[in-house]
Amino acid sequence: MKKLFAANWKMHKTTFEARQTAAELAGLVSGKLKADREVMILPTFTALAPVAEALRGAASFLVGAQNFYPQKQGAFTGEISPGMLLDVGASFALTGHSERRHVLGETDAMVGLKTAFGLESGLGIILCVGEKLEERKADELESVLERQIRAGLRDVAVDVDPQRLVLAYEPVWAIGTGLVAGAKEILEAHAFVRRMLVEIFGLSASQMRILYGGSVKPDNASEIIALDNVDGVLVGGASLKADEFSRIVLA
Ligand code: 13P
Repeated sequence: MKKLFAANWKMHKTTFEARQTAAELAGLVSGKLKADREVMILPTFTALAPVAEALRGAASFLVGAQNFYPQKQGAFTGEISPGMLLDVGASFALTGHSERRHVLGETDAMVGLKTAFGLESGLGIILCVGEKLEERKADELESVLERQIRAGLRDVAVDVDPQRLVLAYEPVWAIGTGLVAGAKEILEAHAFVRRMLVEIFGLSASQMRILYGGSVKPDNASEIIALDNVDGVLVGGASLKADEFSRIVLA
């Protein structure tokens, strides 16, 4: 199982900037990436094709999208289908990111629809889960994760290819705040996510990757990536500059 280093660029970068950053990153990492690692860039929709083009021929680089709508096509003004993402070179997409849940109002049910539909359409999916600070304080970590995981995976086939289903634990209080979760908190949450995956998928759960996300930086990446049940990282702010993200990927 390869460790996955994913760069969620959120709503940043013009096509020119995205192409430039992707090419610079590929150059910095080329020939130095450990064999058991792969890198994914998740730019905005408009930069997907330019980033895919910039990474053409770069070994161990993947392109992912940040969102999609769970329909093949139709009267859904402003939306983008999984087939359209595949068409421009994306092979993965996020579902359930906390900003979509808490800023854009996406429900657990919608996250579940998207996850199943994306997988059926041929995309790999990174399903994000994580608790808010008040939920952690109220001792609701496990109940929140369980609810989000069960709803998110409700319609996913039990024989899904484990390489194409990735979970990401992103505590909401650690996203963009500089407050990284401690080793103990990450270990507990990831062990819980793994137990849920085993319960739902059985043996193949051991081959599903669980990423950590939330204020990952070059100076904390190697410690986080070495923890049990941490199979990669999902990075926001520190992924926007090629030099900074390359230090995470090569950590
Ligand atoms: P930051 O790395 O900026 O905390 O963002 C994490 C995140 O939301 C990645 O999806």
